[in-house]
Amino acid sequence: MVTTQHPFTLLLLLPLAVIGIFSSSSQVSATNVRIEQFSSPFSTDLATLQSQIGYNFTNINLLRRAMTHASFSQENNKALSIFGSHLIETSVSLHLLSKDIDTSSKALTRLIAEVSSVDSSCALDGNRLGLERVIRVSPKTDASNSAIVCGGFRAIFGAVAVDSGLVDEAMKVFWRVHGGPGGRLVVSML
Ligand SMILES: *[C@@H]1O[C@H](CO)[C@@H](O)[C@H](O)[C@H]1NC(C)=O
Repeated sequence: MVTTQHPFTLLLLLPLAVIGIFSSSSQVSATNVRIEQFSSPFSTDLATLQSQIGYNFTNINLLRRAMTHASFSQENNKALSIFGSHLIETSVSLHLLSKDIDTSSKALTRLIAEVSSVDSSCALDGNRLGLERVIRVSPKTDASNSAIVCGGFRAIFGAVAVDSGLVDEAMKVFWRVHGGPGGRLVVSML
């Protein structure tokens, strides 16, 4: 048994050794980057935000991007925000129709509009998370602008879905955040 296992064990160990060499060399630069990240207020904000939404990113760069407005960088949250917006609509539709399959199209449209409204629900949720203090914008841009807060808020769910590879995960995070204090207005309508 031992002799037959030997070549197999070697085959397993060889790639592991190669991976070991590569990961130990890349760890050096990764550690340097990490020290920078943790020492910046933005990184602290991202850590706080993760605990607020109850989701830890595997790839924190996705949350970083979600919290970056187009005025700040070309690597911004625009696409994640569009994705997040669709996720919220899907999530609300699922909730409402699961509860009552006879929901009228009018009622569904109204609720989607309500929950997506920049001037009420969306900015309210974003402000509750303190996003206006987290989202990176250019010096001339006002981060407390409700459209910017909403964009960031929606982008969080796009980022969670991409990070986890699961739309369900993003919906779970949405209800956790939206259903909290201050977000009850729309939830009570469901
Ligand atoms: C996220 O990570 C922190 C620190 O490691 C941990 O305390 C927390 O339970 C984690 N949260 C989730 C939702 O996994």
